[in-house]
Amino acid sequence: MRLWKNGAVDTATAERIDLSLISLTLTDFRSYAGARLELASGPVVLHGPNGAGKTNLLEAVSLLTPGKGLRGATAAEMGRREPGEAVGRAWAVMVELDDETRLGTGVQTAGAARRIVRIDGETAQPGRLLDYLRPVWATPEQDRLFSDARAERLKFFDRLVFAADPDHAAAVSAYEKALRERLRLLNDAQDGREADPVWLDALEARLGEAGARAALARVAALQALQAAIDARSDRPFPQADLGLDGPAEQMAEAGAEEDEIAAAIRDGLARARARDGAAGRSLFGPHRTDLTALHREKNRPAAEGSSGEQKALVLNLILAQISRLSHQSARPVLLLDEAPAHLDEARRAALFDEITALDLQAFMTGTERGLFAGLEGRAQFVRVAGGALERD
Ligand SMILES: Nc1ncnc2c1ncn2[C@@H]1O[C@H](COP(=O)(O)OP(=O)(O)O)[C@@H](O)[C@H]1O
Ligand SMILES: [Mg+2]
Repeated sequence: MRLWKNGAVDTATAERIDLSLISLTLTDFRSYAGARLELASGPVVLHGPNGAGKTNLLEAVSLLTPGKGLRGATAAEMGRREPGEAVGRAWAVMVELDDETRLGTGVQTAGAARRIVRIDGETAQPGRLLDYLRPVWATPEQDRLFSDARAERLKFFDRLVFAADPDHAAAVSAYEKALRERLRLLNDAQDGREADPVWLDALEARLGEAGARAALARVAALQALQAAIDARSDRPFPQADLGLDGPAEQMAEAGAEEDEIAAAIRDGLARARARDGAAGRSLFGPHRTDLTALHREKNRPAAEGSSGEQKALVLNLILAQISRLSHQSARPVLLLDEAPAHLDEARRAALFDEITALDLQAFMTGTERGLFAGLEGRAQFVRVAGGALERD
């Protein structure tokens, strides 16, 4: 049974599709010439020295959802290159699910910029992958998420929105495309060429519509995530009180209708034309929204926290995301890059218990096998070395 009707969750018939990965095959992907891993249903620990290819493997799994994957890289960067080779090879990542579905992605020509997606051998829209799997990841780069640049934080949050609401990705990319076009017109006007006002009006109307949809989806996701965080308050992870700092989202929170929000964005953009043109940047609009977080227990902004504290907040947020996805959709797959290394003993144990309790297919990396001692007997251990994968 499929859950998506016109890209929206069909909650009336929603039932968790409990598929798990049973194998993963990499061909000329990053450091792997060819590798295959057979998987049991529980967590998978990938351990090995720095540079062994652990993150590459997580990245491969992260490509089984639309977008750029866990490193934010282009398809061209992912093809394997021998030392001295300038262009990456054609590459493929394939997984097999326990209902025999095969999901694949890759490029067929060396250096190609766009990856294609195949489901059971047939080319498919990348969005279709969401019918099967929802990879969710946490990486060391997020250790300073709350004190990082606003744009990074919003990108992180938009991905959380999008995993449960695929329409959000379309709204954000339509918005960004129109925003670039508007800025080009305004830049041209700076150079003395008259910007066509009719075209600017049309772009700003489009930005209003896409922006309003994005703002509404963000607010709905924020509320669902906050509810999932609150429901987890008995866990030994710190909780965040989340907020969205942006006028469109504030309107959405106050119950404004989509057209009202769209009109407010459109009018704001029209007013900002001269300023944006002079600055050469778009200074107004929901691309400037920020995700705010308060460390609840400490009652202080998360941004002030140490990287260890921010990491624990992010992990709790990711687990809240997993819990809300588990209720409504295809199977979440958790990718945790170097997570245990950043957690104290108690939280590490809690993380492992939670992963086991949720029966999650989680892929976790670390340089030392010992970091995962708490998972002995409950996980598959795979040693990664020299482009090869070995069960141990
Ligand atoms: N396109 C590529 N072709 C060949 N090797 C690559 C490519 N991209 C990354 N690598 C190699 O992969 C290795 C890093 O793998 P990574 O998964 O990040 O290691 P770790 O086990 O530390 O997480 C590096 O040695 C890097 O040179
Ligand atoms: Mg790594």
